[in-house]
Amino acid sequence: MPPVRLPKNANHSKAKKGTLFRLIKMLFKNYKWQIILALICIILVSISNFTSSIFVKNITNTVNAIVEDKVLNNKEPNFAPLIQLLIIMGSIYFVGMIASFTFNYTLGITTQKFLNTIRKEMFGHMETLPIKYFDTHAHGDIMSIYTNDTDTIRQLVSQSLPSLFQTFFTLIALLSIMLYYSIWLSLVVLFGSLFMIFCTKTIGGKSAKFFVKQQKALGVVEGTIEESINGLKVIKVFCHEDKSIQDFDKLNNHLCEVATVGNINGNIVGPIIGNIGNILYVLIAVIGGLFIMFPNNLHNINIFGQITPKRELIGIILSFLMMARMFSNNINTLSQQVTFIVMGMAGASRIFELLDEQSEVDDGYVTLVNIKYKEDGSFEESNERTRYFAWKHPHKESGTITYTELKGDIVLDKVDFGYVPEKIVLTDVSIYARPGQKIALVGATGAGKTTITNLINRFYDIADGKIRYDGININKIRKSDLRRSLGIVLQDTNLFSGTVMDNIRYGRLDATDEEVFEAAKIANAYDFITRLPQGFNTMLSGDGANLSQGQRQLLSIARAAVADAPVMILDEATSSIDTRTEKLVQKGTDRLMKGRTVFVIAHRLSTVMNSDAIMVLEHGKIIERGSHDDLIKQKGKYYQLYTGAFELE
Ligand SMILES: Nc1ncnc2c1ncn2[C@@H]1O[C@H](COP(=O)(O)OP(=O)(O)OP(=O)(O)O)[C@@H](O)[C@H]1O
Ligand SMILES: [Mg+2]
Repeated sequence: MPPVRLPKNANHSKAKKGTLFRLIKMLFKNYKWQIILALICIILVSISNFTSSIFVKNITNTVNAIVEDKVLNNKEPNFAPLIQLLIIMGSIYFVGMIASFTFNYTLGITTQKFLNTIRKEMFGHMETLPIKYFDTHAHGDIMSIYTNDTDTIRQLVSQSLPSLFQTFFTLIALLSIMLYYSIWLSLVVLFGSLFMIFCTKTIGGKSAKFFVKQQKALGVVEGTIEESINGLKVIKVFCHEDKSIQDFDKLNNHLCEVATVGNINGNIVGPIIGNIGNILYVLIAVIGGLFIMFPNNLHNINIFGQITPKRELIGIILSFLMMARMFSNNINTLSQQVTFIVMGMAGASRIFELLDEQSEVDDGYVTLVNIKYKEDGSFEESNERTRYFAWKHPHKESGTITYTELKGDIVLDKVDFGYVPEKIVLTDVSIYARPGQKIALVGATGAGKTTITNLINRFYDIADGKIRYDGININKIRKSDLRRSLGIVLQDTNLFSGTVMDNIRYGRLDATDEEVFEAAKIANAYDFITRLPQGFNTMLSGDGANLSQGQRQLLSIARAAVADAPVMILDEATSSIDTRTEKLVQKGTDRLMKGRTVFVIAHRLSTVMNSDAIMVLEHGKIIERGSHDDLIKQKGKYYQLYTGAFELE
């Protein structure tokens, strides 16, 4: 188990400036019409909501008139205006209902499509990032961008932003209507609302900060669970179950603490605002009552200086009571959304951070093409898969194209390299691999063997020196073409979910079944595969957990064999295979290596004895080079390694 990682600084999750604007721009770019439709519907919903308060006034006054006619004037009351009002009000509500349905429906679909787009963009971009990015970012953390952070966007787009828009629109409309009815009552509502906003900002702002911390802590807890599942066997082997539980408890408690503070603050905002709303309600009723009681009409003034007739006052006050309720409800909604908006922006910020990561730079313009030999020995480019290749080299200045036959001549010339500038891993490494040669790299753990292969396939770029492939500086070769020309068995075997067949065919997607079988035979994997329950159709899952380590290595050799590339790099390809099977694999790979340039890295020296040249590495330097016999004669490090003297020292 790694040491417990408490989230160091929640500010890391703070949104950058302009994040919201960028998110909205991205949303608009992809779903302009859907968003415009949703916004129109939101406006319609708001209008239908606040017009009801106007109708309260009109209906009250109409009913008043009917009662007056009937009771005081003893006239036959006229119901027509009331019915008309009710029909209009019903229609407005109906439009509001349809608008509400349309907006929820449209936004529901748009949000999911938007998340789909975001995930697609992130994944697409992630695939272009250099290996260095993954060296420096925890994998659990990257995964939480796809899960936690994307989910905050769902909340933001489908709920918070529409609600923010609707609230602002409603509040401004309500305020205008209020001012049209009565200045003094409007001022009462306005002051009450300012107080509510103040409370929201003080308490809600605090909870938002803690929700962001909660999000971060959740990511760490998730990462720890993932690591514990991956490392379960190690935990059990070292009997660290208790320690593992303690570590988890620590993180879990931290999550609980921040979540509690966030939630308590978040939960008390609602009731506080609700109560202020209630007080406001009573205040308006009391002040309104006083307005009616006092004969002076001046307080009934509206923003245009018009004085409301006293008989309409009761309708206005009833409307105000409704509007005040709507006002506080809207501010309450706003206060609930503040948290989600802050969280959503923090999530969006992390998503944009990933999207803004610099992709792997590829300035290569030399490409790999298939060629066909003519009778006179010359060759021409071909669209078929001929198994012969050439480097196609366009010359910008002259506009001509030249071809260099791919021979597999690889030269490392005085190469220096460090994964980080402060620590040099390789110093002055020179290797000459002539076409068809087998070059072995041997040396102690951490000497830099894998690093050399990482440079040939340009997982990393060298700091100094040159690497040439058939005389071409590899920086000029397009990365995908360079890698296509190399059949690589990496030191760590990685298998994907899918059948055995799929996993071998991963080497070359257009390989036929027969070619896959043939590759499996070369790698000596054919026998064990046919003994699996469903043979080549056996499903592998969890990185091939249902296979032995050696079997997984055989599959990755088969995968490289099916790729059928002109240059091979085998990094500890047979380290987990028993010596008898290794002999068989070696026979197969010898067949595979024929006519190819091959780099082999192996701890077992028996594998590399027949190499054309053996490079002995120590602390990133080549200290000896030569054939097996030469090196034995030299009685240096290789001799010690071979005879076991090194280990005995
Ligand atoms: N991704 C990385 N980031 C930083 N340093 C690294 C990285 N990979 C390897 N190193 C460092 O580079 C040095 C050489 O590592 P390398 O993997 O090339 O060793 P190796 O010779 O292949 O060892 P082994 O036999 O164990 O596979 C080591 O000191 C290692 O700590
Ligand atoms: Mg290695």
